[in-house]
Amino acid sequence: MRRAALVLAIAFVAACGPGTTSAERGQALFSDPAMSPSPTNAVSCATCHSASSSPSDHILAGGSLLGVSNRESFFGGRERDVRAAINYCLRRFMRHPSLEPLSEADARGLDLLSYLDTLEGPSDSVPWTVSLVNDNLPAGDSTRGEALYDRACRSCHGDTNTGAGRLTQFIAAIPTDTIEEHADFARLISIQKVRAGGFYGLGGDMAPFAPEVLSDQQLADIIAYLFVGYAE
Ligand code: HEC
Ligand code: HEC
Repeated sequence: MRRAALVLAIAFVAACGPGTTSAERGQALFSDPAMSPSPTNAVSCATCHSASSSPSDHILAGGSLLGVSNRESFFGGRERDVRAAINYCLRRFMRHPSLEPLSEADARGLDLLSYLDTLEGPSDSVPWTVSLVNDNLPAGDSTRGEALYDRACRSCHGDTNTGAGRLTQFIAAIPTDTIEEHADFARLISIQKVRAGGFYGLGGDMAPFAPEVLSDQQLADIIAYLFVGYAE
């Protein structure tokens, strides 16, 4: 009898994790790159989005998700359905191969939404502007740029030039790979990449940093740091 109860308990724990609720499972999924089955994806929701009210030094491409369940529109007003917004991130930034990664019935999608429901915050939609190149950036400061690189880029790209510590080998070593491929245009391409990610036909799955999260001055500083030691 006791043995049967134990077996049942083990089966229960194996199925659901130790006493987890849907929101708790969703919280774990939030930091799990395996939300995308792509073997070349290394990022999770948490790589790009904050879900906490405690201040952080990181500059993330995606906005805070506090209050996201109360919002009426997403992606700077381009999307009205929160699940579609998540699916967009999975496809576009996490290399998910499916057109609809999380269907209405998907258990992980429901867990993720239960978790997002627990994140209280304002219901205002978040401004987000994606545009191509500002080729006319202010002068940058490489010392400030180094600190900004650590806050905005290092988590994925690792060290500059060598790429040591980057998330995967599928993420470029910058600026070396860019210089190798684009020679004199490397600086311009780097500015475009940060501002537009894979949009405007640039391709790739890096998420753009809108001016709302990274100012032109901050971008100029990062570019100055990246190209320190390289000719103008
Ligand atoms: C590589 C970075 C990246 C990853 C990974 C990522 N997102 Fe996003 N996400 C963005 C960017 C950039 C936006 C557009 C800016 C914004 O609205 O926050 C966005 C927008 C969103 C929005 C719309 C928010 C709004 O109010 O406009 C939701 C919801 C969202 N993401 C959820 C997720 C979830 C859940 C995951 C994990 C399954 C995820 N994202 C993974 C970068 C990312
Ligand atoms: C969430 C992870 C992530 C973050 C954060 C990130 N990148 Fe990227 N970046 C990528 C990925 C993945 C690629 C390769 C795919 C692509 O080109 O979109 C890439 C590509 C690039 C490239 C193109 C390299 C080439 O020549 O192919 C540049 C330049 C670049 N990133 C600069 C930056 C800078 C500068 C920052 C910080 C402001 C930054 N990235 C932050 C993931 C990231």
